[in-house]
Amino acid sequence: MNSVLITGTSKGLGYELLKVFLEKGWNAFALARNTKSFSELTEKFPERCIPIECDITDDNCGNIITQTIYENGASLDLLINNAGNAEKCFGLENVNPSDLETHFKVHVSGTFRVIKSALSFLKQSDSPLIVNISSRKGSIQKIIAGEYRILIPYQVAKCAQNMLTACLNQELKETNIKVFAVHPGNLKTDVAPPDADTEPEEAALNMYNWIRSADKLPTDKFYDIMNSKNLEW
Ligand SMILES: NC(=O)c1ccc[n+]([C@@H]2O[C@H](COP(=O)([O-])OP(=O)(O)OC[C@H]3O[C@@H](n4cnc5c(N)ncnc54)[C@H](OP(=O)(O)O)[C@@H]3O)[C@@H](O)[C@H]2O)c1
Repeated sequence: MNSVLITGTSKGLGYELLKVFLEKGWNAFALARNTKSFSELTEKFPERCIPIECDITDDNCGNIITQTIYENGASLDLLINNAGNAEKCFGLENVNPSDLETHFKVHVSGTFRVIKSALSFLKQSDSPLIVNISSRKGSIQKIIAGEYRILIPYQVAKCAQNMLTACLNQELKETNIKVFAVHPGNLKTDVAPPDADTEPEEAALNMYNWIRSADKLPTDKFYDIMNSKNLEW
């Protein structure tokens, strides 16, 4: 049976991804700061939905992840780094240096913390994948082109996460682990952009289908999976 770890499963895309993977028969480790928010899934799939309650910015989170996976079969094929924050502090005067740090701690060092704790399990899988949920707003080319309203902390953090993805693919070249950067779509969630046009449920199913054949795809592309095209980095 396949196993996935998804971060940020309390709501939005993460919650819908958790639901899809459970319904498709996967074992799912569901990481959230509030695991009660998906208790109906834990109750419906008591054997296969394993909650991990922690904050990915907390150093102890790594130990909790490692221990929970170890105690529940020690198997992992897929990691989806979905947890994300996007404070709407538009305008230079409304951005503080600490806002950049807050976003970096989730999208970059938080993501890296989860990856490090999951790595030894992924290495034992036949076809291990890491999917980092990035954003079109992390594309330097799109920002240069003036396509989006500037939201410095979020855009800088997602861009840095893309660099993390590229670095990890180099570092993991000798293994069979592939790391992808993916824009999931413009989603109608709590942090919906003005042009949100996709229900998170639809995006989650689309991502599930994309992931099923992702092991054949190159990792040097930035994937916009709802539109089946590549974004510029
Ligand atoms: N919405 C869009 O159009 C869009 C577009 C491109 C990319 N994305 C990306 O897609 C991902 C999911 O976004 P969404 O739209 O579903 O947003 P959302 O509804 O706000 O969900 C974000 C999730 O991340 C969790 N989270 C945040 N910080 C965390 C932390 N420190 N530790 C653990 N969990 C944490 C939240 O938990 P709490 O409930 O505890 O806050 C929540 O479960 C994010 O990475 C986002 O940047 C979204």
